[in-house]
Amino acid sequence: MEVKRKKGKPLITDYEYLRDSRYFAQIDESIKDIGAKELTELGAEEIKSAYRGLYFTADKKTLYRINYTSRLISRVVAPVFSFACPDTDTLYRIAKQIRWSDFFSKNKTFAVAANVANSKINHSKFASLRLKDAIVDSLLYKAGLRPDVSIEDPDVLLNLYINNDQAVISIDTSGGSLHKRGYREEAVSAPMQETVAAAIIRLTQWDGSVPIYDPMCGSGTLLCEALMHFCRIPAGIFRKKFGFEILPDFDATVWEQIKKEADANIKQLPEGLIAGSDISEQAVYISKTNLLGLHFGPNVRITQSDFSSLPVLENQIIIANPPYGIRMGKHQNLNVFHKKLGDFLKQKCNQSAAYIYFGDRAYVKKMGLKASWKKPIQAGGLDGRLVKYEMY
Ligand SMILES: C[S@@+](CC[C@H](N)C(=O)[O-])C[C@H]1O[C@@H](n2cnc3c(N)ncnc32)[C@H](O)[C@@H]1O
Repeated sequence: MEVKRKKGKPLITDYEYLRDSRYFAQIDESIKDIGAKELTELGAEEIKSAYRGLYFTADKKTLYRINYTSRLISRVVAPVFSFACPDTDTLYRIAKQIRWSDFFSKNKTFAVAANVANSKINHSKFASLRLKDAIVDSLLYKAGLRPDVSIEDPDVLLNLYINNDQAVISIDTSGGSLHKRGYREEAVSAPMQETVAAAIIRLTQWDGSVPIYDPMCGSGTLLCEALMHFCRIPAGIFRKKFGFEILPDFDATVWEQIKKEADANIKQLPEGLIAGSDISEQAVYISKTNLLGLHFGPNVRITQSDFSSLPVLENQIIIANPPYGIRMGKHQNLNVFHKKLGDFLKQKCNQSAAYIYFGDRAYVKKMGLKASWKKPIQAGGLDGRLVKYEMY
């Protein structure tokens, strides 16, 4: 297995993740607490919080399970090699010593996502270019391979992180962000990210014992995530490939087994348990289209309605992401809108609990309702708040 150069130093083959089974899960800072719980449920161990992510240890099975079923994690990277990196020449020299043929076979394309902070190398683009050069030169010289760069759909996605002049080169075991579930074919102008919608559903603790309703469903992201959660549909069910499939220790039998186990868990959605509406005809069409792409999606009823004209929504969980100024345009009078929404909850939603995600927290106080709790959720550049109201 150990291949030596004809001349010079031996190639680096002692990959970190193989040595210590330690991985890094990227996740939005504000949902890290529930992300850590989800990782534990999926079998991860030694979970430690770090900037914008969670370190954890896992065996192969667990790594595949996390990638396939996690609803909150954005991606999982496997550290390959860490080293002191004061300049790009060092980056090039060290990176060239990694035995890249372990990760690349013929005709594989690749891309590098780089992030630099507090370091002498202060251009992530330049750093990623040097790493690409090192990989291409090394593969050509050592293995006669000429990999192409593909930004859109790379087979091998690498992650370069340089902080305080320390570099870590990792393989993205997810192979691109896990929030791209594959059900969202279309979106309204301010769609919610799937991982954030999943976090909101988790925070409602909805267990299917009462119906769940979104009165401003937009592209239906909250409804789709509620469906996937209730029916236990693996979040990655539509993904064509995962980054871990190119790892040298990839075990196709274990992967098949994990997939089978998770898919066997899927359960039916009774009609009437999940429903929603929106004032916009286009949003209704988009929600229906997205739901149709999911198992049991036709069991979710979507109608066109102004929320204030809806019949009573008693003894339900209500989820909503009202319009907000930053993305929706300031033309609407959002103060009045939120006052009306508060009145609607008070007057028509007896015995229900509502979880409203405000993209702009300034509107929380316009609701005229006492909150049970508030949780900051920063997403897509917004400093939003998830607020729970109980109409008991
Ligand atoms: C921020 S978007 C919701 C985005 C949604 N969570 C998603 O992921 O696509 C707000 C939605 O509220 C809808 N809306 C605005 N005013 C409404 C009203 N009076 N009644 C019902 N829906 C309304 C808009 O049409 C828009 O789809």
